[in-house]
Amino acid sequence: MFKIFGRKNKKEEAKLFYNTDMHCHIMPGVDHGSQSVEDSLAMLHAEMDMGISRVILTPHVTAETFENTPESLAQGFATLKQAVENEGLDIELHYSAEYRIDEYWTDQYAKGAVVPMPGKYLLLENSFVQELISIDDMMFDLMSSGYKPILAHPERYSYYYQRHSRYEKLHNAGVKFQINILSLAGYFGGMARENAMWLLEHNLVDMLGSDMHSMDHADIIRRYINSKEWNKLLPRLQGRIINDIIK
Ligand SMILES: [Fe+2]
Repeated sequence: MFKIFGRKNKKEEAKLFYNTDMHCHIMPGVDHGSQSVEDSLAMLHAEMDMGISRVILTPHVTAETFENTPESLAQGFATLKQAVENEGLDIELHYSAEYRIDEYWTDQYAKGAVVPMPGKYLLLENSFVQELISIDDMMFDLMSSGYKPILAHPERYSYYYQRHSRYEKLHNAGVKFQINILSLAGYFGGMARENAMWLLEHNLVDMLGSDMHSMDHADIIRRYINSKEWNKLLPRLQGRIINDIIK
């Protein structure tokens, strides 16, 4: 039988329905994401192929492993911005960080050494071992100071799996929730996927992130947004996702 339309080419591949990726590890050489300017450019090309035109770079800031500072982040950003200009890529870049809530964060925040996203949004990551006892107070303090906290991938913290009421409490208090497309795709296992779906069903998801560390991640996301399952989720997602609000 003839194939009337032939094989789908790259241009016909699915695009995301929003323009801003607000969680990724594309800044070169500052964490375990991109290790070179070439890696970063390849990932930015992948973002653009998926319809992204604004990227907020969010390298890890964690005690001991990635003790980035406003200076190290500014330097990584300048390097990438120059490379993007040289390459002539039409993509808007901003930077902030993914702050792990640990002793380094406490110290940096006390010093005022924090780089928020445009609009004073802040991407915060819980410890994977346990929830900070005073997290509710901390979020309240942040919001009182004009910050808009976003909890990175709440679906990935196993201590919430039997305590969905914690999700509701944090979200009702005003914390925005960002889930990973990679979690929906099953990359972090069945429980993370199940929790991401639960959060979606309960209207607790505000933003989607690629959390892209590598081209492997980019490929998984690209395949997933071309899947039937993604298409089935779209009506629910389109009504809720506010990535582009970060301005
Ligand atoms: Fe991340």
